[in-house]
Amino acid sequence: MPDNLHLNITSMDEKHDQFLTLLTNIQASETGLFLPLFAEMIEHTKDHFTLEEDMMRNYNFYGRQEHLDEHADLLDEMQYFYKKSKRMPMIGRSYIDDYALEKFTRHIINIDSQLAMFLKEQKLV
Ligand SMILES: [Fe+2]
Ligand SMILES: [Fe+2]
Repeated sequence: MPDNLHLNITSMDEKHDQFLTLLTNIQASETGLFLPLFAEMIEHTKDHFTLEEDMMRNYNFYGRQEHLDEHADLLDEMQYFYKKSKRMPMIGRSYIDDYALEKFTRHIINIDSQLAMFLKEQKLV
């Protein structure tokens, strides 16, 4: 994972690393594996978001609502493109190749980083 995405919160960094690996695998996948790997990425993202949402609830994080809203948007979008790609594989490929990495990178830098800083400041991790 590139340094600018490293938050130094082990549980979050692990999820982000796994996400990037999954994304790379989908990009390199042959046709028959595209949808199963895409579905795996959706399940992984649900786990990833639940982990962060549990921490925000448990520690009463001030920016929780904004973060929850972004998670809901990201997941909705991912599911939308998954459904689309069943009929129109090119659309799914274009989301995976051109869009998903940028979206997630931006979320980590702008949103997850606030949670990571809070956890470190409050000495919760
Ligand atoms: Fe995250
Ligand atoms: Fe997040």
